[in-house]
Amino acid sequence: MRWTFAALLGSALVARHALAELTFTVSATRNGVPIPQSEIKLVPFESGHSRMGPDRATPVPPHRKTRRANPTAVSANWCGSVNKAPSGKQIKLIHGVFQHPTCTVRSGVTTYPQAAAAWAGIDGDTWTSALLQSGTVCKVDNSSGIVRHEAWWQWVPSSSYTIASMPVSPNDWFEVTLNTSSTTAAEITITNLSQGYAYTITVTGGPTLARQDADWVVERPYYGATLAGFASFTDVWFEQAYADLIGGSGGAPKVGILGAKQYQITGSCASAEWDDEHQVSWSL
Ligand SMILES: *[C@@H]1O[C@H](CO)[C@@H](O)[C@H](O)[C@H]1NC(C)=O
Ligand SMILES: *[C@@H]1O[C@H](CO)[C@@H](O)[C@H](O)[C@H]1NC(C)=O
Ligand SMILES: *[C@@H]1O[C@H](CO)[C@@H](O)[C@H](O)[C@H]1NC(C)=O
Repeated sequence: MRWTFAALLGSALVARHALAELTFTVSATRNGVPIPQSEIKLVPFESGHSRMGPDRATPVPPHRKTRRANPTAVSANWCGSVNKAPSGKQIKLIHGVFQHPTCTVRSGVTTYPQAAAAWAGIDGDTWTSALLQSGTVCKVDNSSGIVRHEAWWQWVPSSSYTIASMPVSPNDWFEVTLNTSSTTAAEITITNLSQGYAYTITVTGGPTLARQDADWVVERPYYGATLAGFASFTDVWFEQAYADLIGGSGGAPKVGILGAKQYQITGSCASAEWDDEHQVSWSL
C-alpha cells in the first residue's frame, strides 16, 4: 500500500488534526520577477482548475544510452524509482527534473476520473506515516476526453493543494526541489522550466518524516478513497534525480536513481533506470 495524494476531506480525525497544524507561505516569480501575492492561488485539491495551454517544444534531454537492470517491485499505484538513504543517514533534499506528459483516455477503460501524477518525494515507502511530495497531474474527468493539467504539493497525511495559478502544459519540463530544514519543515520549489514560473512553498508543522526514502514516481492517484483510472501518458523521464544527505555537501555521497528499486504497476506502467541518473516511466 503506497501513500496517495487523495484529497482529505475525509472523515479521518488524524487528517484534520494534521491539517490544523500544518501552515505554509507561498512566493512566486516569473523569469525572476516576483508575482504579486494577489495573483498566487493555491486551492485544496480537487476544487481547482488550472489554465491550459498548447503543447510546446521541449528541451533536448540528456543522452541516454544504457538501460539498467534494477531490483523491481510491484505496486497498485506507484510506478518509478525509490531509493533509500544509507543506514544512519537522512535525506536533506530531493531534486528531480521531469517532463509533464501528454495524457489520453486509456483504451478500454470507462471509469473516471482517469489521471496520472508525476512527482518527487521524501518517504512514504519504508516510512509509512508521512510523505512530502510535489509534482504535476493530468486528469480526465469524463468521457469528453478533456485533460486538465495541474501542479500540486502535499505533505501526507495532510491535505493536497493544487497550485492553481501555475500553468502546466503537456511536454513542459518541471524542476522540483524539496528541501527539508527538519523532519517537520521544508521548502518546496516547483519551477516550470519551459515557462519560467517558480513557486516556493515554505511549510512548517508537517507530519514527521524519517527522511529515508527518495522517490521519483508516476502515480495512479486516489481521489478520495477511490483509485482513479490510470490515464495513458507519454513517457515521463526523470533527470538530475538526486537526494542530498544531511551532512553532505560538494562531492559528498548522494542517493540517486542508481540501483533504485523500480516499482511497476502490472499491466499499466513500467519503469526503468538508464545511465545511472535517468529514469523513465511509461504507460503500457
Ligand atoms: C467533462 O469534463 C470537462 C473537463 O473537466 C468539463 O468541463 C465538463 O463539464 C464535463 N462534462 C460533464 C458532462 O460532466
Ligand atoms: C536548502 O535549505 C538550506 C537551509 O536549510 C539552505 O541553506 C540551502 O541553500 C537550501 N538548498 C537549496 C538547494 O535550496
Ligand atoms: C512553462 O515554461 C515554458 C518555458 O518557459 C513556457 O514556454 C511554457 O509556456 C510554460 N508553461 C506554461 C503553462 O506557462
